Amino acid sequence: MRLEVHSTSPETVDTPLMVVPVTSDRTLERVGELSRLDRVIGGVASRAASAGDFRGRGTDRVLGYRVGAEGPARVLFLGVGSSESLTPEKVRGAAGEAVRAAEGHRVSSLSFCLGHLGAGAGSGLAQAAAEGLVLGAWRFDELKELAGPEPEGAGGEKSAPRVESASLIGSSSPEWREAVRVGHAFAGGENLARTLQARPGNVATPSHLAAEAVRIAKEVGLGSEVLGPAEMEAEGMGALLSVARGSDQEPRLIVLRHRGGRPGEAPLVLVGKGLTFDAGGISLKPAKGMEDMKYDMSGGAAVLGAMRAIGQLGLSANVTGVVPSSENLLNGSATKPGDVVRSRAGKTIEVINTDAEGRLILADALHYAAGWNPAAIVDCATLTGACVIALGHHRSAVLGSDDALVEELRGAGDAAGEPCWPLPLDAEYRRQLDSDFADLKNVGGRAGGTITAACFLSEFVGSAPWAHLDIAGTAYGKTKKPYLRNGPAGNPCRLLLEWVRARVAA
Ligand code: BES
Ligand code: MN
Ligand code: ZN
Repeated sequence: MRLEVHSTSPETVDTPLMVVPVTSDRTLERVGELSRLDRVIGGVASRAASAGDFRGRGTDRVLGYRVGAEGPARVLFLGVGSSESLTPEKVRGAAGEAVRAAEGHRVSSLSFCLGHLGAGAGSGLAQAAAEGLVLGAWRFDELKELAGPEPEGAGGEKSAPRVESASLIGSSSPEWREAVRVGHAFAGGENLARTLQARPGNVATPSHLAAEAVRIAKEVGLGSEVLGPAEMEAEGMGALLSVARGSDQEPRLIVLRHRGGRPGEAPLVLVGKGLTFDAGGISLKPAKGMEDMKYDMSGGAAVLGAMRAIGQLGLSANVTGVVPSSENLLNGSATKPGDVVRSRAGKTIEVINTDAEGRLILADALHYAAGWNPAAIVDCATLTGACVIALGHHRSAVLGSDDALVEELRGAGDAAGEPCWPLPLDAEYRRQLDSDFADLKNVGGRAGGTITAACFLSEFVGSAPWAHLDIAGTAYGKTKKPYLRNGPAGNPCRLLLEWVRARVAA
């Protein structure tokens, strides 16, 4: 999507659709711009206001059509509640709804007006608006063949015109332009993550993810490195290899490097689980809902999307993205329950359940990353069903060895509208991983499943400050957000980006 920034008076803009968020305290009669916009549509909104139908409440909407010859063809006022409670997330939502409205009216461009929100309309809201517009415009139709002219009466998504461009009406100050540039890149990275997530397992294989990563690296000027089975063997990555053994698809370990910091400056490392299809292995999953296990690479997708945005923006930090990628299937060579495998760290692992494979591929990836002496490692993974039980679909879990880092991630999640919530990582939980036959088991029983999974990971990060995001409940699903569609959410791509940006600013 193309985004422009303007400081024009909204009532003079020639656009098929002007969308205007309105707070309950700065309503039409109080704000000159709003009453002038209302005049363009013949005063429909002020009449709705006198009837009590439009007071800027979160569910209030008024649509009007241009009466004269000048100004927007349509004006859509969206109530967003009180100015006090106006958050970036609400603006993201309003911007997403604006795109949905444009689609509904079958127009390919729109304007979104923010300037009238007054002093509150800082650059944070401009960033959020840019994000909502770009995220709202994402769709996945690359596998639908029946494109072309719309058959009579069909209302398929593919036939609705794409919203190609949007103008943000408010300020054109350098701060605003910068905020929109950042929001555009963040949401673009997240959209890339969503596209990779949406691709089915027979398209998005480990080698496909690696090829995409290399393409991204070329596009935005990142360094890239891809390890295959031979290199993994040489590196002693027996845990990662033990998962891949059950599949015909070769595993890959993808590394992308952004060098925006001083040479030699310790890197921030982002690690994402890139399990392109999780059937469970010999510990086979039940059939119901198994198709969703194509999303088991969501962490990896978020990291690739974040790395593209970091490269695009040229953030002043050294950031390395790492994505261990494999399938988890079953064949005659597959790892069996009870098998003992040797990780890169040298620790031996008794594989009790082959469905606890994410921690195995992450173990070797984290240990590889820990060797770079990083300033911090953050991993994200659709790691445990237990996390969905604990926190549902509205928050990721965050666990880590470093309280300050956990707090940073909480702040970044709140800023991004991708919130997370801490779970403890006390030493007591580690005992659930004690094995009679190896250094540790890969499962710790049903109790505290998200915590014992994180305990397992913590064994492989050395002394680096590290935190883990369990995104099993938040990476995809029927998310009811105006700027998302059902399916892949890209979460926590923007959380990671907000975190890196806060680190750069600090
Ligand atoms: N990828 C799954 C976790 C998952 C479950 C993600 C549901 C999204 C939705 C992971 O590899 C897995 O299978 N975990 C097991 C671990 C168990 C065997 C200890 C789980 O959560 O059941
Ligand atoms: Mn699994
Ligand atoms: Zn998995």
